[in-house]
Amino acid sequence: MSPRPDRRPAPDLEFWARQAGQLHWETEWSEVLDRSDAPFVRWFTGGRLNAAYNCVDRHVEAGHGNQVAFHWEGEPGDTRTITYAELRREVCRTANALLSLGLRAGDRVAIQLPMIPEAVFAMLACARLGLPHSVVFGGFSPAALRSRIEDAGARLLITSDGQYRRGRAEPMKALTDEATAHTPGVEHVLVVRRTGTAVPWTEGRDLWWHELVDRQSMEHTPEAFDAEHPLFILYTSGTTGRPKGILHTTGGYLTQAACTHRTVFSLDPGSDVYWCTADIGWITGHTYIVYGPLANRTTSVMYEGTPNTPHEGRHFEIIERYGVSVYYTAPTLIRTFMKWGEDIPARYDLSSIRVLGSVGEPINPEAWRWYRTHLGAGRAPVVDTWWQTETGAVMIAPLPGGPPAKPGSAQTPLPGISAKVVDDRGREVGKGESGYLVLDQPWPSMLRGVWGDDDRYRETYWSRFAEHGYYFAGDGARYDDDGDIWLLGRVDDVMNVSGHRISTAEVESALVSHPTVAEAAVVGASDPTTGQAVVAFVILRGAAAGTPADEVVSALREHVAREIGPIAKPRRILVVPELPKTRSGKIMRRLLRDVAENRETGDVSTLADASVMELINAGLAAAS
Ligand code: WT7
Repeated sequence: MSPRPDRRPAPDLEFWARQAGQLHWETEWSEVLDRSDAPFVRWFTGGRLNAAYNCVDRHVEAGHGNQVAFHWEGEPGDTRTITYAELRREVCRTANALLSLGLRAGDRVAIQLPMIPEAVFAMLACARLGLPHSVVFGGFSPAALRSRIEDAGARLLITSDGQYRRGRAEPMKALTDEATAHTPGVEHVLVVRRTGTAVPWTEGRDLWWHELVDRQSMEHTPEAFDAEHPLFILYTSGTTGRPKGILHTTGGYLTQAACTHRTVFSLDPGSDVYWCTADIGWITGHTYIVYGPLANRTTSVMYEGTPNTPHEGRHFEIIERYGVSVYYTAPTLIRTFMKWGEDIPARYDLSSIRVLGSVGEPINPEAWRWYRTHLGAGRAPVVDTWWQTETGAVMIAPLPGGPPAKPGSAQTPLPGISAKVVDDRGREVGKGESGYLVLDQPWPSMLRGVWGDDDRYRETYWSRFAEHGYYFAGDGARYDDDGDIWLLGRVDDVMNVSGHRISTAEVESALVSHPTVAEAAVVGASDPTTGQAVVAFVILRGAAAGTPADEVVSALREHVAREIGPIAKPRRILVVPELPKTRSGKIMRRLLRDVAENRETGDVSTLADASVMELINAGLAAAS
């Protein structure tokens, strides 16, 4: 049988080939896109490159060794300036240290570090050697770290003795030891000394960074890897309790990371000072602190700590000190700045700011305007960037200098990208209508799979609109009368708390793992600062009888922080006698959201037992 002609719309392959051509390839690709095995795709087939060489050595060889790569600022006020030449030396030393531990291309390395330069050195050393890294956010619990180490089968963990948080030195190694006590696959733990905190030590397994790395040679010749060689795994919450390891590969990811960073911020490597405030534990940190900016030879600011340590003007002070021209942050922080007051940014000289970026959740028009007025002197463009861990890089954003921006709208797909808003049968909706956001053409930095779980990859992203071959993003969206896109938030059971994705199922399974809890239901309730807040409804077991409700509640909040991490800690936990369920047993979160947001409860006609909501409301009224 002769193959049917491929009628799928083709992405702009010439555009992407031109973008890829801005990188250094050891071997040129033979085909830009191969989707013969869709939804598994390959970009730049046959091409070979080294991501770290592209981010570092290439710029030094071109005579930019003295350009600053990072102005790093520690939370206690210590600083470090790292030029591209120094970055090259540090990455080489780190790579040589990893080689000395017997790690070879394809081995996985877990990294849990604060926002210190070693985090960047470690990621780039892994990239240089073809070791996929799995960075785990510093705020995640030992249990979360353990499951990520196990899932990826990491041979090495890189961590630090402690981390500075809100002016205090908090332990880190003591916590990662709780995880590695159960992960025999981790042969070594490489420990950066950051806070000087005393640490538990396992002889033979644990190694100090300053002892191992500092004695290595500063020379290392990078090897080129296949364009589809895994670059990293990054875990993100889905609709089930188990986080999924999103897999990104080398050539396509780096191409789109660099291209979007350059275009979205109209970045000039010779004059801009760029600051992305994300943590490297999230995709924003991977793409827009490490890979995109470095591939573009950017001078960046990197800050270790919290925005109000030691005072609420810390970010503005840093912007003034380094002359930051591009500032990229999340709506939740902007709303926090609003709460602290506009007189704080007014005390600093922010005139260096040229472009402001926003990421993580829809930005409300009020925050958008405040951001532009008080950080952007009323004139800097605000670029609202929509993307996901899975997309690897920005997909939808207004371009500075493009048509007038609309506060609250991400507006249009970037060059080379195609997105649509469709109804539940996959038909594109009209202007003024809303539906589901889909990506109808492949893009270079798209995820290549879910680590170790091809079925979950197909099921989660490609089954909903299978006959159209669309990627289902999980977000609702709307076209306005001009055809611009407005994001409306998740349509699945995923919450967005301060721009971080947390699944309701993940928090529910943490709650029911506590001996006092019989059943739990979790919803995201809208919150003026964090976007959404975690609100949990729990039914207690008989075992909890006699314990005062507030004690149970605070024990449960701590339990969730221990199981997942402090970001998942419920804002409120309501003890209830029953949960509202349909006849098929599905929890009706819509009704719980009504309770959590203090609204009149909506339509209860599909409840198995219509009196449940009265019971819940009566119980809560009695308790307050
Ligand atoms: C989800 C992805 C992309 C890095 C940060 C979060 C929401 C993200 C926007 C935006 C509206 C946004 C979506 C998306 N989201 N940016 N500009 N406007 N919503 O990455 O943890 O993978 O979360 O964040 O719901 O699906 P993530």
